[in-house]
Amino acid sequence: MAVMSGTNSNNDYPIYAEGLMRHFGDVKAVDGVDLQVNAGEVFGFLGPNGAGKSTTVRMLTTLLRPTAGVARVAGFDVVKDADQVRRRIGVALQDAAIDPLMTGHELLALQAVLYGIPKAKVRDRSRELLERVGLTGAADRRVGTYSGGMRRRLDLALSLIHQPTVLFLDEPTTGLDPMSRLALWEEVRRLNAEGTTVLLTTQYLEEADQLADRIAIIDHGKIVRQGEPRELKAQVGAPTLVITVPTGQLDQAREVLRSFGELRPTAEGSLGVGLSAGAEAVPAVVRSLDDAGMQVQHLELNEPSLDDVFAEATGYRLEGAASASGLPQAQGAEGGTGKRGRKRGTNETTGESA
Ligand SMILES: Nc1ncnc2c1ncn2[C@@H]1O[C@H](COP(=O)(O)OP(=O)(O)OP(=O)(O)O)[C@@H](O)[C@H]1O
Ligand SMILES: [Mg+2]
Repeated sequence: MAVMSGTNSNNDYPIYAEGLMRHFGDVKAVDGVDLQVNAGEVFGFLGPNGAGKSTTVRMLTTLLRPTAGVARVAGFDVVKDADQVRRRIGVALQDAAIDPLMTGHELLALQAVLYGIPKAKVRDRSRELLERVGLTGAADRRVGTYSGGMRRRLDLALSLIHQPTVLFLDEPTTGLDPMSRLALWEEVRRLNAEGTTVLLTTQYLEEADQLADRIAIIDHGKIVRQGEPRELKAQVGAPTLVITVPTGQLDQAREVLRSFGELRPTAEGSLGVGLSAGAEAVPAVVRSLDDAGMQVQHLELNEPSLDDVFAEATGYRLEGAASASGLPQAQGAEGGTGKRGRKRGTNETTGESA
């Protein structure tokens, strides 16, 4: 959707943060974040596990007090005017607790009452939203019997009850199957087309690429990249050549590749290099490897993707373009700073009962 830019004063940004911090003891979960999200934008918030995404979202949605810094959402200060903020935003949290004994319809009705929707309108509003997220048939079933995908769709419906102008979605599609993920993307697009500003965190770069007008990458509590996906990819510049050689030759091949550009993180068992001379260098690389007596088993040239932007910014690979299929990928990180835990979505993909 078209986006306003340039002329905003700080109060006009639906989401604005400056120097936002939250420390938990020694842990600097969020360590000085600046954000300016424009009206009508879908803003993607990316980062490895533990980077500070949910903590930022919790501060922006008034659920957690900042240690320092300021944030305004829908024009109101998240600390001083928390009530005003809450009235204008919708939130679907990563770990929302929902009473499993209530039905979808009951939960929506409760939410409607909490948000002061007149009694006469509660039923219609609930019906409309259940229909919107494709849960009409399950409206009178206990939520405990919903699948992971149904739960996420119900979370979304709950966040929309009071027609918020700013919507926060914390990993709305983690653990969803490909079809459910596409359906949720469609819904986000539709809401955005109706004028809702959306900030969504995600582990799926493909999702950010598909949905977001702009993205920010957060790592260790700090924003390390921010901009339009297109612009960030262009900054990475050189295409990545990925090669596979027999395991015993990896070290030697790495040395050869180094002379063609910077090594880049790739899946385990393969090597990646950002070709500083561009695609034309491919024959020369192959010749050099051949001259050194190495067998190239597989070779592929990739134009910069959001995955490359992310890897360059954080030293990590998340699920790449193939993540749209929902398949996890190998995540070796050449030059990375060590591995962090990656237990994602297990609770949502299991425990499904029809
Ligand atoms: N209530 C808390 N008490 C102590 N530490 C916390 C608390 N909440 C978050 N943290 C820590 O703050 C850091 C950032 O956590 P956060 O949940 O914001 O990360 P995230 O980017 O959302 O990660 P994920 O991708 O796993 O959801 C982590 O080191 C986490 O352990
Ligand atoms: Mg999180």
